[in-house]
Amino acid sequence: MNDIIMVTGGAGYIGSHVVKLLLEKKQKVFIFDNLSAGHNQVLEFFKKTYGADADSFIFINADTLDEEGLRKAIDSVRKNHWISGIIDFAAKIAVGESQQKPLDYFTTNVVGFRNLLMATDHIPLVKSSTAAAYGSPLEEDIPLKESVIPKMIAAKRYDRSQLLPASVPFETLIEWYTKEVVEKYPFFYLDKADLEFLHIPVNVYGVTKVICEIMLKKHEKEAGRKHMALRYFNAAGADPSGLIGEDHIPETHLVPLVLKAAMGKVKCITVFGDDYDTPDGTCIRDYISVMDLADVHIIALNYIIKGGGSRTYNLGTNNGQTVMQIIEAAKKVTGRNIPVEMSGRREGDPTALVADASLIKKELGWKAKRGIDEIVSSAWKWHSSHPDGYK
Ligand code: UFG
Repeated sequence: MNDIIMVTGGAGYIGSHVVKLLLEKKQKVFIFDNLSAGHNQVLEFFKKTYGADADSFIFINADTLDEEGLRKAIDSVRKNHWISGIIDFAAKIAVGESQQKPLDYFTTNVVGFRNLLMATDHIPLVKSSTAAAYGSPLEEDIPLKESVIPKMIAAKRYDRSQLLPASVPFETLIEWYTKEVVEKYPFFYLDKADLEFLHIPVNVYGVTKVICEIMLKKHEKEAGRKHMALRYFNAAGADPSGLIGEDHIPETHLVPLVLKAAMGKVKCITVFGDDYDTPDGTCIRDYISVMDLADVHIIALNYIIKGGGSRTYNLGTNNGQTVMQIIEAAKKVTGRNIPVEMSGRREGDPTALVADASLIKKELGWKAKRGIDEIVSSAWKWHSSHPDGYK
Protein backbone atom coordinates (compact mmCIF):
# COMPACT_ATOMS: atom_id res chain seq x y z
CA MET A 1 0.00 0.00 0.00
CA ASN A 2 1.16 3.53 -0.77
CA ASP A 3 1.81 5.65 2.20
CA ILE A 4 0.22 9.07 2.35
CA ILE A 5 0.41 12.03 4.70
CA MET A 6 -2.79 13.77 5.71
CA VAL A 7 -2.58 17.56 5.86
CA THR A 8 -5.63 19.32 7.23
CA GLY A 9 -5.85 22.95 6.12
CA GLY A 10 -3.47 22.05 3.30
CA ALA A 11 -4.89 24.75 0.98
CA GLY A 12 -4.23 27.51 3.52
CA TYR A 13 -1.15 29.67 4.03
CA ILE A 14 1.28 27.52 6.02
CA GLY A 15 -0.43 24.27 4.98
CA SER A 16 0.09 24.96 1.27
CA HIS A 17 3.81 25.57 1.78
CA VAL A 18 4.15 22.28 3.67
CA VAL A 19 2.16 20.39 1.02
CA LYS A 20 4.29 21.87 -1.77
CA LEU A 21 7.45 20.69 -0.05
CA LEU A 22 6.01 17.21 0.51
CA LEU A 23 5.00 16.97 -3.15
CA GLU A 24 8.47 18.11 -4.22
CA LYS A 25 9.86 15.26 -2.14
CA LYS A 26 7.50 12.91 -4.07
CA GLN A 27 5.50 12.24 -0.94
CA LYS A 28 1.83 11.60 -1.62
CA VAL A 29 -0.49 13.92 0.29
CA PHE A 30 -4.12 13.77 1.39
CA ILE A 31 -5.33 17.36 1.68
CA PHE A 32 -8.36 17.72 3.91
CA ASP A 33 -9.72 21.27 3.79
CA ASN A 34 -13.16 22.89 3.88
CA LEU A 35 -11.77 25.88 1.92
CA SER A 36 -13.14 28.34 4.47
CA ALA A 37 -9.71 29.97 4.60
CA GLY A 38 -7.89 27.79 2.06
CA HIS A 39 -7.87 28.52 -1.66
CA ASN A 40 -9.06 26.50 -4.60
CA GLN A 41 -6.32 28.17 -6.66
CA VAL A 42 -3.71 26.45 -4.49
CA LEU A 43 -5.19 23.08 -5.46
CA GLU A 44 -5.22 24.10 -9.11
CA PHE A 45 -1.55 25.06 -8.82
CA PHE A 46 -0.68 21.68 -7.26
CA LYS A 47 -2.59 19.87 -10.00
CA LYS A 48 -0.83 21.78 -12.75
CA THR A 49 2.61 21.42 -11.20
CA TYR A 50 2.62 17.97 -9.63
CA GLY A 51 0.16 15.99 -11.70
CA ALA A 52 -3.53 15.33 -11.77
CA ASP A 53 -5.43 14.66 -8.61
CA ALA A 54 -4.77 11.17 -7.16
CA ASP A 55 -1.37 10.84 -8.86
CA SER A 56 0.30 13.08 -6.36
CA PHE A 57 -2.37 14.20 -3.96
CA ILE A 58 -5.93 13.56 -2.98
CA PHE A 59 -8.14 16.46 -2.03
CA ILE A 60 -11.31 16.08 -0.01
CA ASN A 61 -13.42 19.14 0.66
CA ALA A 62 -14.83 18.49 4.11
CA ASP A 63 -14.95 19.87 7.60
CA THR A 64 -13.51 18.39 10.79
CA LEU A 65 -16.79 19.42 12.45
CA ASP A 66 -18.66 16.93 10.28
CA GLU A 67 -17.72 13.77 12.20
CA GLU A 68 -19.31 11.41 9.72
CA GLY A 69 -17.84 13.20 6.69
CA LEU A 70 -14.42 13.12 8.32
CA ARG A 71 -14.58 9.39 9.02
CA LYS A 72 -15.88 8.68 5.51
CA ALA A 73 -13.07 10.73 3.96
CA ILE A 74 -10.45 8.87 6.00
CA ASP A 75 -12.00 5.47 5.19
CA SER A 76 -12.05 6.27 1.49
CA VAL A 77 -8.35 7.21 1.51
CA ARG A 78 -7.48 4.13 3.57
CA LYS A 79 -8.91 1.82 0.90
CA ASN A 80 -5.74 2.33 -1.14
CA HIS A 81 -3.34 4.05 1.22
CA TRP A 82 -1.76 3.78 4.58
CA ILE A 83 -1.92 7.14 6.40
CA SER A 84 1.51 7.30 8.00
CA GLY A 85 1.24 10.73 9.57
CA ILE A 86 -0.95 13.80 10.02
CA ILE A 87 -0.07 17.49 10.01
CA ASP A 88 -2.97 19.49 11.39
CA PHE A 89 -3.45 23.12 10.37
CA ALA A 90 -7.25 23.19 10.42
CA ALA A 91 -8.02 26.07 12.75
CA LYS A 92 -9.22 29.61 13.04
CA ILE A 93 -6.25 31.89 13.63
CA ALA A 94 -7.22 35.52 14.22
CA VAL A 95 -6.59 36.60 17.80
CA GLY A 96 -8.90 39.66 17.69
CA GLU A 97 -11.77 37.72 16.13
CA SER A 98 -11.42 34.98 18.76
CA GLN A 99 -12.30 37.53 21.45
CA GLN A 100 -15.47 38.49 19.58
CA LYS A 101 -16.56 34.98 18.51
CA PRO A 102 -15.32 32.64 21.24
CA LEU A 103 -17.85 29.89 20.52
CA ASP A 104 -16.82 29.74 16.84
CA TYR A 105 -13.18 29.47 17.86
CA PHE A 106 -13.88 26.87 20.52
CA THR A 107 -15.99 24.82 18.11
CA THR A 108 -13.59 24.82 15.16
CA ASN A 109 -10.35 24.62 17.12
CA VAL A 110 -11.34 22.25 19.93
CA VAL A 111 -14.38 20.23 18.80
CA GLY A 112 -12.91 19.87 15.30
CA PHE A 113 -9.65 18.68 16.83
CA ARG A 114 -11.48 16.22 19.08
CA ASN A 115 -13.11 14.75 15.99
CA LEU A 116 -9.78 14.50 14.17
CA LEU A 117 -8.13 12.74 17.12
CA MET A 118 -11.01 10.31 17.51
CA ALA A 119 -11.18 9.51 13.80
CA THR A 120 -7.48 8.79 13.35
CA ASP A 121 -6.55 6.32 16.14
CA HIS A 122 -2.89 6.65 17.04
CA ILE A 123 -1.44 7.97 13.75
CA PRO A 124 1.53 10.26 14.61
CA LEU A 125 0.36 13.86 14.48
CA VAL A 126 2.06 17.24 14.19
CA LYS A 127 -0.08 20.05 15.54
CA SER A 128 0.28 23.73 14.80
CA SER A 129 0.33 25.56 18.09
CA THR A 130 1.29 29.12 18.89
CA ALA A 131 3.42 31.55 20.84
CA ALA A 132 0.09 32.81 22.17
CA ALA A 133 0.51 29.91 24.64
CA TYR A 134 2.92 32.22 26.55
CA GLY A 135 0.29 34.90 27.13
CA SER A 136 1.81 38.24 28.04
CA PRO A 137 5.34 37.43 29.21
CA LEU A 138 7.58 39.66 31.32
CA GLU A 139 10.76 41.14 29.89
CA GLU A 140 12.81 38.77 32.05
CA ASP A 141 11.13 35.78 30.30
CA ILE A 142 12.38 36.83 26.82
CA PRO A 143 13.61 34.97 24.82
CA LEU A 144 10.93 32.45 25.72
CA LYS A 145 11.95 28.92 26.51
CA GLU A 146 9.35 26.16 26.54
CA SER A 147 10.23 25.68 30.22
CA VAL A 148 9.06 29.18 31.18
CA ILE A 149 5.43 28.04 31.48
CA PRO A 150 5.92 25.98 34.67
CA LYS A 151 7.79 28.99 36.08
CA MET A 152 4.89 31.32 35.22
CA ILE A 153 2.54 28.88 36.92
CA ALA A 154 4.73 28.48 40.00
CA ALA A 155 4.87 32.27 40.33
CA LYS A 156 1.05 32.36 39.93
CA ARG A 157 1.37 34.89 37.11
CA TYR A 158 -2.24 34.66 36.01
CA ASP A 159 -5.63 35.71 37.18
CA ARG A 160 -9.19 34.71 36.55
CA SER A 161 -10.02 37.71 34.38
CA GLN A 162 -7.21 36.97 31.93
CA LEU A 163 -9.47 36.97 28.86
CA LEU A 164 -10.97 40.43 29.32
CA PRO A 165 -12.27 42.01 27.11
CA ALA A 166 -13.34 38.71 25.50
CA SER A 167 -17.06 38.20 25.19
CA VAL A 168 -16.81 35.05 27.30
CA PRO A 169 -15.29 34.30 30.70
CA PHE A 170 -12.69 31.58 31.14
CA GLU A 171 -15.14 29.43 33.13
CA THR A 172 -17.55 29.28 30.19
CA LEU A 173 -14.81 27.95 27.91
CA ILE A 174 -14.15 25.21 30.47
CA GLU A 175 -17.88 24.41 30.67
CA TRP A 176 -17.98 24.05 26.87
CA TYR A 177 -14.94 21.81 27.01
CA THR A 178 -16.48 19.62 29.71
CA LYS A 179 -19.71 19.25 27.76
CA GLU A 180 -18.23 18.69 24.30
CA VAL A 181 -15.10 16.76 25.14
CA VAL A 182 -14.96 15.31 28.68
CA GLU A 183 -18.57 14.08 28.83
CA LYS A 184 -17.97 12.13 25.62
CA TYR A 185 -14.39 11.07 26.33
CA PRO A 186 -13.65 11.20 30.08
CA PHE A 187 -9.90 10.65 29.65
CA PHE A 188 -9.68 14.26 28.38
CA TYR A 189 -10.56 15.65 31.86
CA LEU A 190 -8.62 18.73 32.97
CA ASP A 191 -6.69 18.49 36.22
CA LYS A 192 -5.41 21.39 38.32
CA ALA A 193 -2.12 21.67 36.42
CA ASP A 194 -3.99 21.79 33.06
CA LEU A 195 -6.27 24.55 34.33
CA GLU A 196 -3.27 26.53 35.53
CA PHE A 197 -1.62 26.24 32.10
CA LEU A 198 -4.88 27.35 30.49
CA HIS A 199 -4.77 30.52 32.56
CA ILE A 200 -1.58 31.71 30.84
CA PRO A 201 -2.86 32.69 27.34
CA VAL A 202 -4.56 36.08 27.25
CA ASN A 203 -6.92 35.47 24.36
CA VAL A 204 -9.48 32.83 23.41
CA TYR A 205 -7.40 31.77 20.38
CA GLY A 206 -4.45 30.98 22.67
CA VAL A 207 -6.66 29.08 25.10
CA THR A 208 -8.06 26.88 22.31
CA LYS A 209 -4.53 26.03 21.12
CA VAL A 210 -3.33 25.21 24.63
CA ILE A 211 -6.40 22.98 25.08
CA CYS A 212 -5.24 21.08 21.96
CA GLU A 213 -1.74 20.67 23.41
CA ILE A 214 -3.27 19.27 26.61
CA MET A 215 -5.59 16.95 24.65
CA LEU A 216 -2.61 15.55 22.77
CA LYS A 217 -0.85 14.62 26.01
CA LYS A 218 -3.98 12.91 27.29
CA HIS A 219 -4.53 11.10 24.02
CA GLU A 220 -0.98 9.79 24.15
CA LYS A 221 -1.59 8.46 27.65
CA GLU A 222 -4.89 6.88 26.60
CA ALA A 223 -4.12 5.61 23.11
CA GLY A 224 -0.35 5.95 22.62
CA ARG A 225 -0.64 8.76 20.07
CA LYS A 226 2.79 10.24 19.27
CA HIS A 227 2.67 13.96 18.61
CA MET A 228 4.57 17.19 18.16
CA ALA A 229 3.10 20.52 19.24
CA LEU A 230 4.88 23.27 17.33
CA ARG A 231 4.51 26.75 18.75
CA TYR A 232 5.00 29.21 15.89
CA PHE A 233 6.02 32.73 16.54
CA ASN A 234 5.18 35.08 13.61
CA ALA A 235 4.98 33.13 10.36
CA ALA A 236 5.73 35.32 7.32
CA GLY A 237 7.12 35.25 3.79
CA ALA A 238 6.34 32.99 0.86
CA ASP A 239 7.69 30.28 -1.37
CA PRO A 240 10.58 31.77 -3.43
CA SER A 241 8.74 30.91 -6.66
CA GLY A 242 6.21 33.65 -5.86
CA LEU A 243 3.47 31.23 -6.97
CA ILE A 244 1.92 30.59 -3.58
CA GLY A 245 1.79 32.95 -0.63
CA GLU A 246 -0.19 34.54 2.15
CA ASP A 247 -3.78 35.56 1.46
CA HIS A 248 -6.04 35.97 4.47
CA ILE A 249 -9.47 37.56 4.21
CA PRO A 250 -9.51 39.96 5.95
CA GLU A 251 -5.77 40.48 6.29
CA THR A 252 -4.65 41.50 9.77
CA HIS A 253 -0.96 40.52 9.77
CA LEU A 254 1.83 43.05 9.70
CA VAL A 255 4.04 41.88 6.81
CA PRO A 256 1.28 41.57 4.17
CA LEU A 257 -0.29 44.85 5.27
CA VAL A 258 3.03 46.70 5.05
CA LEU A 259 3.48 45.36 1.50
CA LYS A 260 -0.08 46.27 0.58
CA ALA A 261 0.71 49.80 1.76
CA ALA A 262 3.82 49.75 -0.48
CA MET A 263 1.59 48.83 -3.44
CA GLY A 264 -1.02 51.44 -2.57
CA LYS A 265 -3.61 48.70 -1.98
CA VAL A 266 -4.14 50.18 1.47
CA LYS A 267 -3.71 53.87 2.22
CA CYS A 268 -1.01 53.36 4.86
CA ILE A 269 0.24 51.00 7.51
CA THR A 270 -1.24 51.78 10.90
CA VAL A 271 1.28 51.16 13.68
CA PHE A 272 -0.47 49.93 16.79
CA GLY A 273 1.34 51.77 19.55
CA ASP A 274 4.71 53.53 19.75
CA ASP A 275 4.89 53.82 23.53
CA TYR A 276 6.07 50.29 24.35
CA ASP A 277 9.24 49.78 26.32
CA THR A 278 11.33 48.85 23.23
CA PRO A 279 14.12 50.73 21.39
CA ASP A 280 11.69 52.54 19.04
CA GLY A 281 8.54 52.16 21.12
CA THR A 282 6.88 49.60 18.79
CA CYS A 283 6.20 45.91 19.55
CA ILE A 284 8.84 43.25 19.01
CA ARG A 285 8.01 39.94 17.32
CA ASP A 286 10.03 36.97 16.09
CA TYR A 287 9.29 36.60 12.36
CA ILE A 288 9.94 33.12 10.98
CA SER A 289 9.91 32.19 7.31
CA VAL A 290 7.07 29.97 6.17
CA MET A 291 9.75 28.03 4.24
CA ASP A 292 11.60 27.27 7.48
CA LEU A 293 8.26 26.21 8.96
CA ALA A 294 7.66 23.88 6.01
CA ASP A 295 11.07 22.22 6.50
CA VAL A 296 10.61 21.68 10.19
CA HIS A 297 7.12 20.18 9.93
CA ILE A 298 8.50 17.41 7.78
CA ILE A 299 11.48 16.85 10.10
CA ALA A 300 9.17 16.77 13.12
CA LEU A 301 6.74 14.33 11.53
CA ASN A 302 9.53 11.99 10.41
CA TYR A 303 10.96 12.06 13.91
CA ILE A 304 7.78 10.71 15.52
CA ILE A 305 7.01 8.34 12.64
CA LYS A 306 10.45 6.79 13.19
CA GLY A 307 9.71 6.24 16.87
CA GLY A 308 10.95 9.49 18.46
CA GLY A 309 9.09 10.69 21.53
CA SER A 310 6.38 13.35 21.64
CA ARG A 311 7.62 16.89 22.05
CA THR A 312 6.56 20.54 22.29
CA TYR A 313 8.86 23.01 20.57
CA ASN A 314 9.13 26.72 19.87
CA LEU A 315 9.57 27.61 16.22
CA GLY A 316 11.27 30.97 15.99
CA THR A 317 14.60 32.54 15.15
CA ASN A 318 15.87 33.81 18.55
CA ASN A 319 15.67 37.33 17.03
CA GLY A 320 13.07 40.02 17.37
CA GLN A 321 12.15 42.89 15.08
CA THR A 322 10.12 45.94 15.97
CA VAL A 323 7.19 47.00 13.79
CA MET A 324 9.28 49.95 12.53
CA GLN A 325 12.16 47.61 11.61
CA ILE A 326 9.76 45.56 9.50
CA ILE A 327 8.58 48.71 7.73
CA GLU A 328 12.21 49.73 7.10
CA ALA A 329 13.03 46.25 5.74
CA ALA A 330 10.01 46.50 3.42
CA LYS A 331 11.07 49.96 2.18
CA LYS A 332 14.51 48.57 1.35
CA VAL A 333 13.16 45.48 -0.43
CA THR A 334 10.42 47.26 -2.40
CA GLY A 335 12.25 50.54 -3.04
CA ARG A 336 8.93 52.24 -2.35
CA ASN A 337 7.69 54.75 0.12
CA ILE A 338 5.44 53.22 2.76
CA PRO A 339 3.07 55.70 4.40
CA VAL A 340 2.84 55.16 8.16
CA GLU A 341 0.17 56.29 10.58
CA MET A 342 0.68 56.00 14.32
CA SER A 343 -2.28 54.84 16.36
CA GLY A 344 -2.99 53.57 19.85
CA ARG A 345 -2.11 50.11 21.13
CA ARG A 346 -4.09 47.13 19.84
CA GLU A 347 -5.88 45.29 22.64
CA GLY A 348 -4.06 42.19 23.85
CA ASP A 349 -0.69 42.84 22.13
CA PRO A 350 2.25 41.82 24.36
CA THR A 351 5.31 44.11 24.17
CA ALA A 352 7.66 41.41 22.93
CA LEU A 353 7.47 37.77 21.85
CA VAL A 354 10.80 36.23 20.89
CA ALA A 355 11.55 32.53 20.88
CA ASP A 356 14.42 30.72 22.43
CA ALA A 357 14.44 27.98 19.80
CA SER A 358 17.49 26.16 21.16
CA LEU A 359 15.59 23.09 22.35
CA ILE A 360 14.58 21.92 18.86
CA LYS A 361 18.09 22.67 17.60
CA LYS A 362 19.59 20.53 20.34
CA GLU A 363 17.14 17.66 19.96
CA LEU A 364 16.26 17.60 16.24
CA GLY A 365 19.15 19.61 14.79
CA TRP A 366 16.78 22.15 13.19
CA LYS A 367 17.36 25.88 13.11
CA ALA A 368 15.64 28.61 11.09
CA LYS A 369 17.86 29.59 8.15
CA ARG A 370 16.12 32.59 6.62
CA GLY A 371 16.44 36.12 7.93
CA ILE A 372 14.06 39.05 7.78
CA ASP A 373 15.30 40.38 4.39
CA GLU A 374 14.68 37.02 2.75
CA ILE A 375 11.26 36.80 4.42
CA VAL A 376 10.20 40.23 3.22
CA SER A 377 11.68 39.73 -0.30
CA SER A 378 9.82 36.44 -0.77
CA ALA A 379 6.59 38.00 0.52
CA TRP A 380 7.10 40.92 -1.89
CA LYS A 381 7.58 38.54 -4.84
CA TRP A 382 4.20 36.97 -4.02
CA HIS A 383 2.29 40.19 -3.26
CA SER A 384 3.68 42.22 -6.16
CA SER A 385 2.74 39.47 -8.62
CA HIS A 386 -0.65 38.81 -6.91
CA PRO A 387 -1.88 42.24 -5.79
CA ASP A 388 -5.33 40.79 -5.12
CA GLY A 389 -4.06 37.53 -3.65
CA TYR A 390 -5.49 34.37 -5.23
CA LYS A 391 -8.46 36.23 -6.71
N1 UFG B 1 0.75 45.46 13.76
C1 UFG B 1 0.65 46.81 13.47
N2 UFG B 1 -0.20 47.16 12.49
C2 UFG B 1 -0.95 46.27 11.77
C3 UFG B 1 -0.82 44.90 12.09
C4 UFG B 1 0.04 44.54 13.10
O1 UFG B 1 1.29 47.66 14.09
O2 UFG B 1 -1.72 46.68 10.90
C5 UFG B 1 1.69 45.06 14.83
C6 UFG B 1 0.99 44.34 15.96
O3 UFG B 1 0.54 45.26 16.92
C7 UFG B 1 2.10 43.44 16.46
C8 UFG B 1 2.92 43.12 15.21
O4 UFG B 1 2.58 44.12 14.28
O5 UFG B 1 2.90 44.12 17.35
C9 UFG B 1 2.61 41.78 14.60
O6 UFG B 1 1.20 41.67 14.46
P1 UFG B 1 0.50 40.49 13.65
O7 UFG B 1 -0.97 40.78 13.66
O8 UFG B 1 1.16 40.34 12.33
O9 UFG B 1 0.84 39.20 14.49
P2 UFG B 1 0.60 38.89 16.04
O10 UFG B 1 1.94 38.99 16.72
O11 UFG B 1 -0.50 39.68 16.62
O12 UFG B 1 0.05 37.40 15.99
C10 UFG B 1 0.75 36.36 15.35
C11 UFG B 1 -0.22 35.34 14.81
C12 UFG B 1 -0.98 34.69 15.91
C13 UFG B 1 -0.04 34.13 16.94
C14 UFG B 1 0.94 35.19 17.39
C15 UFG B 1 1.95 34.57 18.30
O13 UFG B 1 -1.11 35.97 13.92
O14 UFG B 1 -1.75 33.65 15.38
O15 UFG B 1 1.60 35.73 16.26
O16 UFG B 1 3.10 35.33 18.34
F1 UFG B 1 -0.72 33.73 18.02
